Amino acid sequence: MANDTNKKDSFVLTGVKPTGIPHIGNYIGAIKPMIESANSNDFAGSFVFIADYHALNGLKDAKLLNEYTINIASIYMALGLDTNKSFFYRQSDIPEVFELSTILNAFTAKGLMNRAHAYKAAFEQNNSDEGINMGLYTYPILMAADIVLFGVGKKVFVPVGKDQVQHIEIARDIVVNFNQTYKQEIFKHPEALIQKDGEVLVGTDGRKMSKSYGNVIPIFGTEKEIKSAVMGIKTDSRQPSEPKPDYKDISIYQLYTNFASETEISEMADGFKNGKLGYGDAKKLLLEAITKYFKPYQEKYLYYKNTEAGKKELFDKLENGSQSVRKIAKSNLNQLRKIIGIN
Ligand code: ADP
Ligand code: TRP
Repeated sequence: MANDTNKKDSFVLTGVKPTGIPHIGNYIGAIKPMIESANSNDFAGSFVFIADYHALNGLKDAKLLNEYTINIASIYMALGLDTNKSFFYRQSDIPEVFELSTILNAFTAKGLMNRAHAYKAAFEQNNSDEGINMGLYTYPILMAADIVLFGVGKKVFVPVGKDQVQHIEIARDIVVNFNQTYKQEIFKHPEALIQKDGEVLVGTDGRKMSKSYGNVIPIFGTEKEIKSAVMGIKTDSRQPSEPKPDYKDISIYQLYTNFASETEISEMADGFKNGKLGYGDAKKLLLEAITKYFKPYQEKYLYYKNTEAGKKELFDKLENGSQSVRKIAKSNLNQLRKIIGIN
């Protein structure tokens, strides 16, 4: 775990794949903590980027990829990512990432890729490589490049969920091999900042909220979309007047705890416990809370996503971010080229 002294001398970096329309589960589990750590003054620098080439592995619809990229960038801007404190950029705008990825290929054992989760999971689906592209197979190498491009003589902390920890370990293995080969500590070892077990938000069907299950409540959907998602939350058939001492297991309540005030939350708990609140009314309260929570950000989101002026501002910000980042990237890559004998 990072202590404050080494944090001050380190970077924090994180990437997000533009593969869909983010939902309130992504918000609570990833976007909110990411913006908080990026905006904090705990680190010497903070990097937040859109991992568009990572998305390409699974998304071959040009229009959608572009839309998702604009959408996620608009969400980060609207929800308060401070671009004065953070470098905010697109992976595809940093050619040095891809050159480093090529370098790192030469330091990555093939067996390491065979053991990577994303590949293994895809392989195990039909016990075959069919349908698996090399982008997915070498995914952890590109991810290592994203991170350690800024890890030349500098520690990089990567806030991630548990599912991504293995990727950081792979990045570390790759740079250990690199450092050993040239007998110097060129790269500092990257380190995962594992988010403590956050709330896993349940979806409208009671399973984990996930775009793959189609059970999501979008962050910035239209009023109609959000309403129909919330009102469609599955419940059991108990009558409103029936006391529900198990209120903590009711998904409406669980979702509510993330968006309502303390008082509102205890009112809902009391209502369920005492048989004074039915599911229909509870859903209305939840809808109100979610709408109220995101309302202050909605206008900004629509401005970035839908207006010409907003989009221009968005791309200018991303462009500025990439220019600043490329200065560090180029300087680090030049050092690396010398070390490997390509200069
Ligand atoms: P999805 O399951 O919708 O495809 P991703 O796998 O793209 O979501 O997850 C992106 C990030 O959002 C991850 O860091 C993940 O931990 C977080 N996340 C996804 N779903 C939830 C959820 N239901 N509750 C909390 N966090 C979530
Ligand atoms: N693999 C991450 C995910 O699926 C996205 C990602 C790409 C990333 N490069 C990264 C995250 C570098 C952190 C650091 O969510």
